[in-house]
Amino acid sequence: MKKILVIHGPNLNLVGEREPGVYGSESYDTLNSNIIDRAKSLGIECEIFQSNHEGAIIDKLHAARKTFDGVAINAGAYTHYSYAIRDAISAIKIPCVEVHISNVFARDEFRSTSVIAPVCKGSISGFGFASYYLALQALAEL
Ligand code: DQA
Repeated sequence: MKKILVIHGPNLNLVGEREPGVYGSESYDTLNSNIIDRAKSLGIECEIFQSNHEGAIIDKLHAARKTFDGVAINAGAYTHYSYAIRDAISAIKIPCVEVHISNVFARDEFRSTSVIAPVCKGSISGFGFASYYLALQALAEL
């Protein structure tokens, strides 16, 4: 069975409360239980990790290289400027898929830049919670 790690970056633990017009009003717990259900229906094992700290995300990516087959990562605002997370993704051999709940290209200009996109297998942005489910499907099919 494939093992996939889902990483939620900074502020994503507040989904449901945070800017509901952008991220929806369904809770973070609902998001995670939906992710687990989708993973089960795709026949993959899934672990979910959230951190508001760049270093903790990097440590988790390093650890994942030996125990997971792929990563779906919503790096939150780190997406737009963290060369350290980009280098961590690049350093590990397992495929990573970039995920965003909102359409980052339809928002503030700074969100149109992703420093992690070039080292990810692909990017999914703008489908609400379904962005995560689509990333799981992509990783299942790789
Ligand atoms: C986000 C988009 C980012 O620009 C933002 O900083 C986030 C969430 C998204 O899921 O749409 O925290 O990654």
